[in-house]
Amino acid sequence: MPERLETKRVSSEELHDLRRRVLRGNDPAAEVGDPRDSESSAEHYAGVLNGQIVVCASVYPSTSPIDPERKSYQLRYMATDFEVQGQGLGAIVLTTVCDSLTLRGVEEIWANGRDTALGFYQRLGWEIIPGSEHMSPYTQLPHTVIFKTLQ
Ligand SMILES: CC(C)(COP(=O)(O)OP(=O)(O)OC[C@H]1O[C@@H](n2cnc3c(N)ncnc32)[C@H](O)[C@@H]1OP(=O)(O)O)[C@@H](O)C(=O)NCCC(=O)NCCS
Repeated sequence: MPERLETKRVSSEELHDLRRRVLRGNDPAAEVGDPRDSESSAEHYAGVLNGQIVVCASVYPSTSPIDPERKSYQLRYMATDFEVQGQGLGAIVLTTVCDSLTLRGVEEIWANGRDTALGFYQRLGWEIIPGSEHMSPYTQLPHTVIFKTLQ
């Protein structure tokens, strides 16, 4: 079992290394920021284990792809470091993110989920929007629009 994971809010810059390594093939030229990163409404979460950031997740207020009337956030840059994947750490951080949004009245969270990661999200109660399959312009990998109703 890993040591206890601490989930905390950090700056987006603190997550660039993990974003780059796990989500962008460690390409030094890859874009690892979101234009909304420095907005005050953006929230950046780190899962910290033994002083190291091993999980990252960021959320941004965003129009729901399901119902524009619903108060919604978009999840981006969800990743767990390679050596500690499959140990429940990503689930801990994403659950903390969703719990925090729920407490503040957010009704829905959505994401462009990598098809290879859809099982992770479905384990946590997320749903797929049928027919939303597409190639990501950032990674050229197959993605599907997914969401979770928070309340
Ligand atoms: C997808 C990712 C974030 C999951 O994080 P993780 O810490 O490895 O996942 P966890 O160990 O918390 O898994 C929670 C549950 O989801 C399952 N799961 C995890 N990754 C999965 C996957 N790719 N496919 C299917 N199920 C998966 C686990 O088996 C576990 O199930 P259990 O509760 O029945 O044991 C991580 O593997 C990762 O960073 N992958 C590469 C980058 C990526 O694809 N990010 C998502 C971009 S949308």
